[in-house]
Amino acid sequence: MAVMKFFLDTADLTEIKTYAVMGLIDGITTNPSLIAKSGRPREEVITDICDIVDGPISAEVISTDHAGMVKEGVELAKIHPNITVKVPLTGDGLAACRELSEKNIKTNVTLCFTAVQALMAAKAGATFISPFVGRLDDLGQTGMELIEDIRTIYDNYGFMTEILVASIRSPNHVRTAATLGADVCTVPPKVLGQLLKHPLTDSGLEQFLADHRKSQS
Ligand code: E4P
Repeated sequence: MAVMKFFLDTADLTEIKTYAVMGLIDGITTNPSLIAKSGRPREEVITDICDIVDGPISAEVISTDHAGMVKEGVELAKIHPNITVKVPLTGDGLAACRELSEKNIKTNVTLCFTAVQALMAAKAGATFISPFVGRLDDLGQTGMELIEDIRTIYDNYGFMTEILVASIRSPNHVRTAATLGADVCTVPPKVLGQLLKHPLTDSGLEQFLADHRKSQS
C-alpha cells in the first residue's frame, strides 16, 4: 500500500526542526529562491538539512546547460546519499536527468506545467516530477487538473516517477492531491501549520483545561 509523503518546501532550519520532531517530514525541497532567503551558501544549508531529515533532500542546479547540470549534480550528490538533484524541465534538464539517473543519482524535474512535460520527464528517468499547481491557479487555471492527468498517464504506462505536488498554497491543495493519489506533497511551513490547526481543537482543549482547573480548586 502506497504512503502519502510530506516534504517541507523550505531551507529554513528552524522550521525544519520544528516539524521534524513531530515526525511529519519525509523529505525537503529547496530551490534557488529558498536558498537565497536563508542567506547562506547552498552546499552549507543542504549539508545541515541532511543532518536533520532522513529522506530525499532536493538541491537545485544553477547551470542551464546539460554538461554543467550533470557536473553540478554529481558534486551535489557527494554531500549525502539522500541528495536529489533538481533540474529544470528543459531539453538540457532532461538530458541531465537521464545522465544523472544512469549514475544512480536521484532526480527531481522541476517547473512542470503540462501533462506532456511530465510524460517526457518520466521517459527521461526522473525520480520525481514537480508540477507547480499554485502557479497555474495564479493564472486562472486549475492546477489540480494537471495532477489528475499526470496520475492517469503514469498509471497507464506503469511509470515509477513519483508525483511531487509543488507550489502548494493551501490545505485544500493537499486534500485534493491525496484524493487524486499524488505520491508526495511539498508543503511550505505556513501551510503545514494550517494543516494541523482547527479552532474546535483549540477551544476544546481550552475547555478541558478550564474544567480540570475547576476540579482542582
Ligand atoms: C518546489 O519544489 C518549489 O520549491 C516550490 O513548491 C515553488 O513554490 P512557489 O510557487 O510557491 O514558489
